Amino acid sequence: MLPLVDPHNPTGGVLGREELRALARLALRHDLLVVADEVHAGLVHDPYRHIPFASLADEVADRTVTLTSATKAFNVPGVRCAVAHVGAAAVREAPTRPTHPHGEPNTFGVAVTLAARRHGEDWPARRRQVLARNAALVRDGLPAGMGYRMPQAAFLAWLDCRAPGLEPDPYTFFQGEARVLLNDGRAFGPGGAGFVRLDFATSRDILEDIPRRIRESLT
Ligand SMILES: Cc1ncc(COP(=O)(O)O)c(C=O)c1O
Repeated sequence: MLPLVDPHNPTGGVLGREELRALARLALRHDLLVVADEVHAGLVHDPYRHIPFASLADEVADRTVTLTSATKAFNVPGVRCAVAHVGAAAVREAPTRPTHPHGEPNTFGVAVTLAARRHGEDWPARRRQVLARNAALVRDGLPAGMGYRMPQAAFLAWLDCRAPGLEPDPYTFFQGEARVLLNDGRAFGPGGAGFVRLDFATSRDILEDIPRRIRESLT
């Protein structure tokens, strides 16, 4: 099985057609099922574009399960109602069942998902506007030397704290010294040492306060 997360959490990166094609060739060569988590697809910032993996070719769609969710683009987190789009009968009938480590699908989640998709069509575009403004607030407020690449999608800033010398644990440093609770980069794998993740889907006041606290903790 080839897991694919595009747009990516935690980096906010969006894959281009050539990168996706390379992954498709890999999946075909090794006869792999692809599980494409595309739940952030509704929040891709200009000028980037989301390309659904299953749209590359019929033979790719036949081996792909695409996961979507209303929770990100419509800002309804926690309703536990992702949708799996399974094209090929052979995949649909495979004897695998999802596990539910974080909750079960439920009636409320289904109602929220349907309401979002049926009645919320202008919401994602407005949300993208606010998030683009927020991404710029984070960029402008953080101290020089703290690595920050503008996310191509969504609301997550993946902050490289290796330059300020905070490795391997900037998370504990910022919690103690700045009183800011971020996500520890190590929770996303060994490559995350020296990184923290900041969710910037919040108000302007908070987004001015967080970088200020981070700046002050480093001086
Ligand atoms: C890449 C990715 N996939 C899946 C999820 C979970 O989605 P849901 O809100 O539908 O539980 C998240 C939530 O953070 C995510 O970032």
